[in-house]
Amino acid sequence: MKNQSQPIELLSADRIAERLHALAQDINQHYEHRDILLVSILDGAIIFTADLLRLLKVPTQLDCLRISSYGDSTSPESPPRITGSLKSDLRGRHVLLVDDILDTGKTMEQAINEIAALQPESVRTCVFLDKAQRRSNGLQADWVGFSIPNEFVVGYGLDYAGRYRELPYLAKLPGEASTVH
Ligand code: IMP
Ligand code: MG
Repeated sequence: MKNQSQPIELLSADRIAERLHALAQDINQHYEHRDILLVSILDGAIIFTADLLRLLKVPTQLDCLRISSYGDSTSPESPPRITGSLKSDLRGRHVLLVDDILDTGKTMEQAINEIAALQPESVRTCVFLDKAQRRSNGLQADWVGFSIPNEFVVGYGLDYAGRYRELPYLAKLPGEASTVH
């Protein structure tokens, strides 16, 4: 598309891939001899989920929860809404909840509440990015890809007004300063 500002790379596709291998290794170890029901929070987690899923060595089934928090802006205007629900029976399952980014934590909190009500055996969380400075509810993910400062990022599934999800790397939009740890 024309007339869009060029995103600036923060994390290369190679660096992301390398980190995902380490993350998957930890997850594989944790769930050894157990089956996982991976619940992906759409739309943002779609790319992260697809890559992570293919690195898991434990038997895994996939389900998706669709939660919307942003309109066409970089800050949430209203509480997250569940707009698509799960199809699986969660009773007795080990659920691994996967999201693109833990920001205020409201989306994850909503997802955890939704899942807990369905009586799984366990619930753990894995996020590609963690913006800890923005947390409003003290939630911490069990597995985190990268910790990032408080700034708006795009790419690798994350969007700004529905754009940039297809970038194979993580980027910021021009005009924002940053470092990724
Ligand atoms: P939370 O409910 O504030 O934790 O927001 C989490 C959701 O907001 C994520 O699932 C993302 O879809 C979106 N989000 C938060 N920060 C960013 C960002 O920097 N870029 C793109 N999407 C973001
Ligand atoms: Mg999201």
